Amino acid sequence: MQRIRKAVIPAAGFGTRFLPATKAQPKEMLPILDKPVIQFVVEEAIASGIDDIVIITGRGKRAVEDHFDYSPELMEKLEKKGDKRMIETLNNLTKSADIHYIRQAEQKGLGDAIYCARKHIGGEPFAVLLGDEIIDSKVPCIKQLEQVFVKYQRSIIGVLQVPIERIRYYGCIKYDNQEDGIFSISDVVEKPTIQLAPSNIAIDGRYILTPKIFDCIESTKAGYGGEIQLTDSIKELLKYEPIYATTIEGKRYDVGSKLDYAKAFFDFTMKNEDFSAEYKSHVKNYLGEHP
Ligand code: UTP
Repeated sequence: MQRIRKAVIPAAGFGTRFLPATKAQPKEMLPILDKPVIQFVVEEAIASGIDDIVIITGRGKRAVEDHFDYSPELMEKLEKKGDKRMIETLNNLTKSADIHYIRQAEQKGLGDAIYCARKHIGGEPFAVLLGDEIIDSKVPCIKQLEQVFVKYQRSIIGVLQVPIERIRYYGCIKYDNQEDGIFSISDVVEKPTIQLAPSNIAIDGRYILTPKIFDCIESTKAGYGGEIQLTDSIKELLKYEPIYATTIEGKRYDVGSKLDYAKAFFDFTMKNEDFSAEYKSHVKNYLGEHP
């Protein structure tokens, strides 16, 4: 039975929704307290059993590579300080997976970003995790998708139900039938209006795709926003293979949006064992002073 060994994490986008913060730094490096967004994503891939990760980067994204690189000077400094906990944290960060970097020459869209990994992926099914989305879940999200993949051996898309008035922010699926949270997809559409939305089931930023997707991306023309949209390539893939969607158990944060970023920062700080008590009392006081 084929398992998923490789993942692509696209992280080359401009991040225009998060300007000015993203003018000179990647949005994927925005910290949720002390951990950059992309580290959550890499950790999810590793916790799902993936050990070969390709991060798609571009101009202005050097900090992503530096973050996962070994830094002898910093380690020496930490040794002198005797900070064993941080040494272990940083060692885990640099040694836990094989991380490769491929540059997307022009930010032509998510489909194009994934296409950049074609040679590295070769002919096997692979995972895609958007570099600016955190999914907080008990079972790592890609693991959830893989559990469905093992049964169907087809492309599997992670989905969530959203209020219909929010569907215009997402890719959206149309489905023939549904059993135990697994949808058999009949069509997909990128950011539809309420009138054109075939459902309120939104594609989140997690996919397992068969390698046929690369041929489909190749024949995809620029779509919504003038970009090569992965959703359009998935629509093309439907002509050749069945595709399934599975409802994700977990909370999704699109950290490329300022509001979701603020929510993620709040939720994770509330859960952080070093800070939660003081932070909670701060929030309580604040709410008392600003009812
Ligand atoms: P977004 O749709 O959030 O794209 O991409 P963006 O262009 O960065 O964001 P805004 O809308 O301007 O704020 C989802 C993921 O795909 C990557 C992004 O880095 C993000 O992690 N991406 C997007 C690429 O790698 N290349 C692209 O050409 C577009």
